Amino acid sequence: MKIRVRNLNKSYHLHPVLALQEAEFGAYELEGLIGPNGAGKSTLMGLLTQRIPPTSGNIWFDIDGHEHNLRTMRVHEVARLGLVKTNQRIQGFESLSIRDSLRLAATAHSQETLRGVLDKNQIDDDIESEIDHYLSLFSFSNPNGYALSGGEKKLLDILRCLVLKPRMLLMDEPTAGLPDDITQQVMRLVVEKARAQQMRVLIVEHDLELIWSFCDYVHFLSDGEMLFQGTPENVKKNRVVAEKYMGV
Ligand SMILES: Nc1ncnc2c1ncn2[C@@H]1O[C@H](COP(=O)(O)OP(=O)(O)OP(=O)(O)O)[C@@H](O)[C@H]1O
Ligand SMILES: [Mg+2]
Repeated sequence: MKIRVRNLNKSYHLHPVLALQEAEFGAYELEGLIGPNGAGKSTLMGLLTQRIPPTSGNIWFDIDGHEHNLRTMRVHEVARLGLVKTNQRIQGFESLSIRDSLRLAATAHSQETLRGVLDKNQIDDDIESEIDHYLSLFSFSNPNGYALSGGEKKLLDILRCLVLKPRMLLMDEPTAGLPDDITQQVMRLVVEKARAQQMRVLIVEHDLELIWSFCDYVHFLSDGEMLFQGTPENVKKNRVVAEKYMGV
């Protein structure tokens, strides 16, 4: 399973913010996407999931030897194929409890409305126990109430994506603002799910220690261009990465 992009470009007001001739994501279980502020990391993730329309170019999602051209798809169709993204900035969650948000995510691919599902008591036992498991792993102040803090919303956003059982999960600064112990717990859960469900993960993070310790492969983006790709060891040693990002 992998995402392939070819000649992918995004400009705002004629100003290019992303220009990728060729790139592949998903060859490894966990991949990192790093680069300075404004490099185009979030833009790339938005393009891959079709939240942001490209100026030009193509994106394919290869699943079991079948190529799906994502350019012709809407966001929900991309999600239904199993390509799902967490958000750098969190919105929503105001109108549903934490538990119901997870239930809604779990039923998102069905045609049912949440109310219909809840009224008919149709939520699968497996889904309920998975949700219970997540809620017991992380101590939300009140799982039956709303997500209150920024941290709770961030965590809920990640869990909501995991409940979807994606084929590929894109995480945009997933743990920014979370305490260290929760960050480690989230990452262990993501790794566990990746192994168990053959899920691939692409993580954008400024926390390089997290990237080095969890990722098998790293892409380095700067000024909208992919300047280097390799194992964490090779990326760490790379002069361009050091100069442009790590300030050494
Ligand atoms: N809607 C928009 N309109 C105009 N310019 C935009 C828009 N969205 C992003 N940009 C610009 O595109 C560039 C890339 O932004 P992007 O958010 O992808 O960077 P990033 O690598 O995710 O940065 P950060 O690490 O700070 O999150 C930036 O120069 C940004 O100002
Ligand atoms: Mg960003």
